[in-house]
Parts: sequence; structure tokens; C-alpha cells
Amino acid sequence: MEYRGYDSAGIAVVGREECRAIKTKGKVSELEKNVYSQNISANLGIGHTRWATHGEPSVTNAHPHSNKEQTLFIIHNGIIENYSTLKNNLINEGYTFVSETDTEVLAHLIDYYLKLKNNLFQAVRYALNEVEGTYGLAVIYKEEPDKIIAARKGSPLVIGIGKNENFIASDVNALIVHTSQVVYLEDGEIAEIYKDHFHAKTIHDEEIIKEIHKVDMNVDEITKGGYPHYMLKEIMEQPDSIFNSMRGRLLYEEGISKLGGLQGYEDRIVRSQRIIISACGTSWHAGLVGEYMLEEYAGIPVEVEYASEFRYRHPIIRPEDTVIFISQSGETADTLASLKEAKKKGALCLGVCNVVGSSIARESNAGVYIHAGPEIGVASTKAFTSQLVVLSLITLLLARKKNLSLIEGQNIIREMQSLPEKVKKILESNDQIEKIADEYMSCRNFLYLGRGYNFPVALEGALKLKEISYIHAEGYPAAEMKHGPIALIDENMPVVFIATKDAVYDKVISNIEEVKARKGRILAIVNEDDDYIEKLVDHVIRVPKTINMLQPILSVIPLQLLAYHVAVKRGLNVDQPRNLAKSVTVE
Ligand code: AGP
Repeated sequence: MEYRGYDSAGIAVVGREECRAIKTKGKVSELEKNVYSQNISANLGIGHTRWATHGEPSVTNAHPHSNKEQTLFIIHNGIIENYSTLKNNLINEGYTFVSETDTEVLAHLIDYYLKLKNNLFQAVRYALNEVEGTYGLAVIYKEEPDKIIAARKGSPLVIGIGKNENFIASDVNALIVHTSQVVYLEDGEIAEIYKDHFHAKTIHDEEIIKEIHKVDMNVDEITKGGYPHYMLKEIMEQPDSIFNSMRGRLLYEEGISKLGGLQGYEDRIVRSQRIIISACGTSWHAGLVGEYMLEEYAGIPVEVEYASEFRYRHPIIRPEDTVIFISQSGETADTLASLKEAKKKGALCLGVCNVVGSSIARESNAGVYIHAGPEIGVASTKAFTSQLVVLSLITLLLARKKNLSLIEGQNIIREMQSLPEKVKKILESNDQIEKIADEYMSCRNFLYLGRGYNFPVALEGALKLKEISYIHAEGYPAAEMKHGPIALIDENMPVVFIATKDAVYDKVISNIEEVKARKGRILAIVNEDDDYIEKLVDHVIRVPKTINMLQPILSVIPLQLLAYHVAVKRGLNVDQPRNLAKSVTVE
């Protein structure tokens, strides 16, 4: 769970003899030392790793939060938007506060209703009926030490059904070492969980029956497998993850893809007046590549939106639109909110997610899982290339229902099938890329430039570097450099060109010359058979050739490795970069 947020952590335990919280600033390992040095007898507890929203990372602000008597403890993901109103009301009732967090307000509000209802489940239910905002929370109480109350609205929560104990978590990854039987809570549901059973109700006290799902995942997938970091493991896994994203989905004889998750919707999607893609971060970069693919091959107008902008401005969404929501975690709050907005307006909503059963996957009308396997490193790598594979599969499906010929479809399939081997070849350059990282690790700024399908790769390469090495980096369309950024070029400004051979290759060479003329240091990603650019630049990293729409899947990999090695050489925490969280479930 720690990859989800890691600036402070804490647990609380409740039993007949004890009822207390242990909290630390910093990593879970710090908490672990603190906990193991104490003798805990209770067998009911909750734990939390924090990504600060309200209040700086500190012991006081770390979860769990409690009532004044320290008999009730709560952990919470999400944001209580009306916390200041609730806090003032509670202060007027004589409550005092020790932290700057919105979550502490919940602790005292539940305490308030406990005194009225004398029942934890009902106290939580009444308190949540006053809350505006989002929550995935768990509450324990000294006077009812045999249960955990869990509730969900806009932030993931899942129950793990074990052999002789039950669990809750905000991510299935945390449960698979204990059980593969899980129950997903939906928004507006509250569960009372005992060690050998549970029951669930709506926030309006109506009983509900919950289905138990079997999770198909094993512990090896969430360990480092001998690599120093999850990020390197996940970069190196890409031949397999890319293969898994295609597995069973390519019909060579018919030159088409088969996507079970879109069954029954294909013709509706083909008829779309427009396709909108809504996502954040790396997933948004994948959407940009998808735009180029879908417009070139399927002939459908595409618009790519930052989910956070899309949900708040007045987007024109029509029932004949199809909106694709790309999200590795399937829990990004802005993307989920934009999905709900589009659904309200009648558009067909498709999810492209990695985490099975995630909120965006379940909220969508239909969709395609990318099957990249759990991605633990905060910097997204294998999920990005698998997102591109799935967008290629969707493009192939739609294009073959429109004007793409059988032969053209088969050519795309052959190229897709060759990707895992081509990726393996690129990964053999890892040592060369590590040496190149030595040359650039002390730079303070970078420019990443690409054209066409490689423009989103430039953006993604820049994001990878900045989010794990903390070096400022910007991605631009290569031609755009002349409209301002060229002023930045001097001998201290390294420029990374993605310069694989395509229709605009000669123009990229002109841009390289322009940078060279101003003493810029140049690293170029080029095709294996390119013996021209090497003479112009300081370093080249070679990638195999493929068709333009698939080239980003190959071009991005050296940039993932470059960012990884620069960050490691700078002694930074590659898997848990400062200020970041793997899944941004707050707005
Ligand atoms: C990518 O390296 C970042 N960690 C971040 O931009 C991420 O892509 C973004 O937060 C979207 O996450 P999602 O794909 O889980 O929705």
C-alpha cells in the first residue's frame, strides 16, 4: 500500500485490554520499528499510509485519528469538503482539535453520534450523512472490539475474505498475500466486518447483498523479483506485459482484433461522431497517441482532454459521442469524476484500465483491461506501453469495420506480434543507457522534442525524468521549438530528440541542426539502421523500426531507462518520489 502515499503512517489497535494508536512521520519501515518495539496483544487493528492533503506530514496529522478519549480510531482516504463547517459545529458542541486534518473532524463527528446512538455502525452512518466529499474509511471502537466499520464514497475500498480472519484495504494488491476472495464496496455503502463474517448496508440503512469475487493475481507480481526497484522490474517486464495485453486478442486470419469487453458496442463506437479521451498524466500521453491512431486509421475525430479540466468546464458531450477513460489504477479521482459527468450526458463510456474491478472499470459502460500486471512503481512504465497496445487494438477493430483492408490489418497484427522481441532488443541497451545517464545526471533542465506519433513520447519522456529525478524537463513538438523554447538552447541545455524514421524525419533533422547550431547537447532516439543522425549528435540510442502507430511503444523505453538511471545516480527514491502517490484519489 505504501506506494499509494508515504509521508507518514500509523496503526490503531483495539482489544479488551488495550486501545491505542502508534503513528510516525516518514515511511512504513519507521512505523514498523516503532510497533515491533512494543508488545501488542489486540487482534483487531487498522493502518494507514498518508499522502498529505490537509496539514503537513507529521505525527499529529498522521492517521489514525481519534476522539478525545482515544477509544475510537479512524483512517480515511479522500477529502471532506465541508470539514470546516462540520468542525465549527463540533467546536460549538465543545469539541477540541489537535490536528490540521479534515479526517479528525470525522472522528469527533462519529464520537458525537456515538453518544446519541450508542452503536458504532449507526454513529458512522449518521456522521457520513452529514459529509460532503469523498471517503474510503475504516473505524474501530473500544466498546465494540470485534468489528471494523468500513465505508466508501469516491475512494476505493475492498473487503478481503480470509479463512479465519477478514480484511479491508483500499487496493486489492494489499490483500492478495492473505486471500484471493474479495468484495468491492460501492459508493454509498457501509460494511460491518467481523473476523468470520460481514454485512453491508447503504448509507440509508438498507441491507444489501454483496458478491464475492476471486482475484487472479499472485504475490510474486507485487514483489521486486530481485530487481533493486519496482520501476526497473516493470520496465524489464515489458516484453511480457506487452504480450499479455495482446494475448488472445489478435485474429490474424481476419486481420482484426477481438475485444471481449467491447462486445455488443463495436457498431455503436464505429458510428461515433467523435471520440473523446479523458485521462491524467502518463495516461493522458497515451491518449494523445491514441488520437493520432484513431484519426489516421479509423477516421473518427478525436479530442484528448485532461480529466481535471474536462470535468469542470462545460464540455459539449453528446449521446452520439464515445468517451474513453484511460487510467492505470482505475481510481484517479479526476478521471472517475469526468466519467460520471460524461455518463450523465448520455455518451458511451469506455474504460481502459489495468486494475480489474477498479472504480473506473466498474463505472464504465464497457471497456478493455490492459493486463499489464500490478504496477507498483509510482512512475508509470509498463502500463503506458500496454495502454498503447490496447489503443492499437481498439484502432484496429474500428478501422477494420471501416476502410482498413484485410492485408493492412494483417500487417498491423504482424507488427504488433513482433513488439515483444523488439522490446527485448531495446532492453539490451540498458548498460549503454546507464552510461549515458552519467553524462546528464547533473543537468538542471531538459528539453524533449518529437513530431507526429513521437510528440506524446517527448511529453512522456519529460514526465518520467521530472517525476523521479526532480530535474525540470519539458516536452514539445519539435517544430514548436522555434516559437520560443529555442531561446533556452545553449551548451547547458540537453535536448532529447525522438527521431525515428517517419514522414517527418527530415524535418526533425532540421530541428537537430538548429539545436546543434546553438551548441545544444543532443541525445537522439533513432532507428537501428540510421547511420546519419549519429554524426550530428552527442549520443544515440537505437530502437528497432516498426509502423508509425506502434513506434511510441518502442521509442519510450530508452526514455524510461534514462529517467530511471539518472534518478538512481542522484540517489533518489525511484519507487516513491517525493510529493507523489501512485494513485491520485483526491482532486
Ligand atoms: C505517471 O508516471 C504518473 N505517476 C501519473 O502521471 C499517472 O499517470 C497519473 O496520475 C494517472 O494515473 P492513472 O493512470 O492511474 O489514472
